[in-house]
Amino acid sequence: MDIYSLGIESSCDETSASIVLNGREVLSNVISSQIDTHKLFGGVVPEIASRLHLEMINKVVDKAIKDANLSLKDIDIISVTKGPGLIGALIVGVSCAKALSLSLSKPLVGVNHIKGHIAANYLCHKDLKPPFSTLIISGGHTYLAIVKSYNDIEVVGRTLDDACGECYDKIARKVGIGYPGGPIVDRIAKEGNKKAFDFPRVMIDSKDFNFSFSGLKTAVLNFINTENMAGRQVDKKDLAASFQEAIVDVLVSKSLKLLEKTGHKEFAISGGVSANSRIRERFEEELGKRGVKLYYPNLILCTDNAAMIASSGYYEYLEDNTDELDMKVYPNLGL
Ligand code: KG4
Ligand code: ZN
Repeated sequence: MDIYSLGIESSCDETSASIVLNGREVLSNVISSQIDTHKLFGGVVPEIASRLHLEMINKVVDKAIKDANLSLKDIDIISVTKGPGLIGALIVGVSCAKALSLSLSKPLVGVNHIKGHIAANYLCHKDLKPPFSTLIISGGHTYLAIVKSYNDIEVVGRTLDDACGECYDKIARKVGIGYPGGPIVDRIAKEGNKKAFDFPRVMIDSKDFNFSFSGLKTAVLNFINTENMAGRQVDKKDLAASFQEAIVDVLVSKSLKLLEKTGHKEFAISGGVSANSRIRERFEEELGKRGVKLYYPNLILCTDNAAMIASSGYYEYLEDNTDELDMKVYPNLGL
């Protein structure tokens, strides 16, 4: 039987709704980004995020249903991000999903946003099935994990401080190149020299699978301050290329270590930072040498979107992991 999953995502600064058929086929994916507003403040302002979600949510859901050439009665399940994320922002999406679930008498499925990022790969690669090893790198999260089955994910490593995308964004802010910093660093690093400055590869040799990005951030910020105090300007392109290479080296090294442990021949990366061209290039190269197939989502499915939530919700529903109308939101939910 075909299952049409309506996905709703409002955990941070994108209001999004999507219809996904049988967990794999995107019929619509509407994303209303708040970035232009938050840019004025150099980062996401939670209160503004909640208000903008409230303004957009109904319009975005209506459009997602219309774009899929469906009507409300065709929807089988309502999948919504229950956490992690900004509490006020999450409440908007979850309230909308509960209202739809109640009025349509359709199951409510609360989805873990981070599991959603992994599911973005199912939408782009019909052949990808668990088990496989995975790296999730986004603005709020950094995880190395083993996907044992669609809903059973074993975390083997995580960041001990800042998330990978957060490190990009904070350094970019310091350098004054704009917000969010990740895509801009990606672009300007292509013209920079990645060997110009030698930044620390933090925890690259640690025995575990954990990461730390705040040490790198501090090293880069101290370097910029020292240079500026000496009256020198740091070349932004060289800086971007050099610190990005420090991040990539660590991500690749830990991921290869996980692949040695699991022996998997499939590796999936996801989350906003998986849009990065240098990260994709290095992973292609290193995994290619070892006969491991690399999966990553289309650019639009790397950053936050509701299609990945609709997909993840479908797999939860198949295992009867549905929720009641008293479901809460979970701002600090882990993977
Ligand atoms: O997945 P996402 O939309 O939000 C979270 O769940 O956190 O990720 C947003 C993050 C931001 O930190 C942004 O700078 C980063 O993804 N990002 C990138 C690129 N595109 C987005 N980082 C590096 N290179 C990119 N091309
Ligand atoms: Zn995300």
